[in-house]
Amino acid sequence: MEAIPYGRQWIDEEDISAVVEVLRGDWITQGPKVEEFERAIADYVGVRYAVAFNSGTSALHAAYFAAGITEGDEIITSPITFVATANAALYLRAQVTFADIDMKTYCLDPQEVEKKLTPRTKLVVPVSFAGYPVDLEPFFELRERHNFTIIEDASHALGAVRNGKKVGQEADMTVFSFHPVKHITTGEGGMVVTNKEEFYERLKMFRTHGITKDPDKLTKDEGPWYYEQHYLGYNYRLTDFQCALGISQLKKIEYFLERRNEIARRYDIAFENMPQIVPAPSVLEPDRHAYHLYPILLNDVNRKDVYLKLREKGIYTQVHYIPVHLQPYYRKKFGFKPGDCPHAEYYYKRELSIPMYPKMTDEQQEYVICSIQKII
Ligand SMILES: Cc1ncc(COP(=O)(O)O)c(C=O)c1O
Repeated sequence: MEAIPYGRQWIDEEDISAVVEVLRGDWITQGPKVEEFERAIADYVGVRYAVAFNSGTSALHAAYFAAGITEGDEIITSPITFVATANAALYLRAQVTFADIDMKTYCLDPQEVEKKLTPRTKLVVPVSFAGYPVDLEPFFELRERHNFTIIEDASHALGAVRNGKKVGQEADMTVFSFHPVKHITTGEGGMVVTNKEEFYERLKMFRTHGITKDPDKLTKDEGPWYYEQHYLGYNYRLTDFQCALGISQLKKIEYFLERRNEIARRYDIAFENMPQIVPAPSVLEPDRHAYHLYPILLNDVNRKDVYLKLREKGIYTQVHYIPVHLQPYYRKKFGFKPGDCPHAEYYYKRELSIPMYPKMTDEQQEYVICSIQKII
């Protein structure tokens, strides 16, 4: 049997043709496909604006910038995330605080956030970890007493639904990633969605060096060639051929999500009566989990043994994530230490992300389940 990774893309002939068509045309970057992809994502999520970026990381950086984050500001996020969620704040010379996770969801715990709020807290970034649509209501309640922006890192949660709304509709800004293991891919790529025009304008300028050509924004008009730089931005543009891939992939998202949910149900049932395994958190309908990952916790079993034995069988699991506050960079530079976020650390010691991707066949999943049961 071919190797079974923890996640992978699903590219078909339609996707390939869509990319090739753009490569044969006039624009390979900054052409019409960018806006078409942005419109398609905005419509799918149900928001007014979407701005494409060349990675989820640059999308996070831009969203924090658009929120006005700057030196001396504090942001609060979860330690159970990819380092990029925190790093993006450091790019703006802000300070990162980690609040612990809720063990029922593995997402940022609003009660822990409340304990860490200070007058300098300008931004809270809940992460919809593994595709679980984190409930934002408690964060909105906190915000009534403290003024901060809420950016949801939904890199794992495109298409997830909570309280009758798609993830992306509620936070001030929401970030998605299109890395190949995610729900849809553009190779590298990301998107910020928002309903606020002010954020939208800042996001677009940040993506292109802080430059504008908008006549309403220029301080003067020297001719049709004229542009002005108003902020220090970056080249964070996504190419046209990548956007063509994104548009083609997005047509299949509902099937991809259905398939991820089917796979999750089969795992839930398989592990129901195994005391050594805590299955991934699930949601009740009509909410929808996006199952980017299927994280299990192992009780009284050596995680490394299981990881290595599965690898011998051609099953490549992963661990998501090493708590960010325990990364040597964060410990050395900011003094974070073990014990700062006990739930996250407990979680990390036991977690294993087992294969979860729509192209995995039932037969492959059966092999994964049997292998885990045998090893344990
Ligand atoms: C939660 C989270 N945030 C941000 C990112 C960064 O996205 P990208 O890899 O597209 O830069 C990732 C990517 O793995 C992620 O999982």
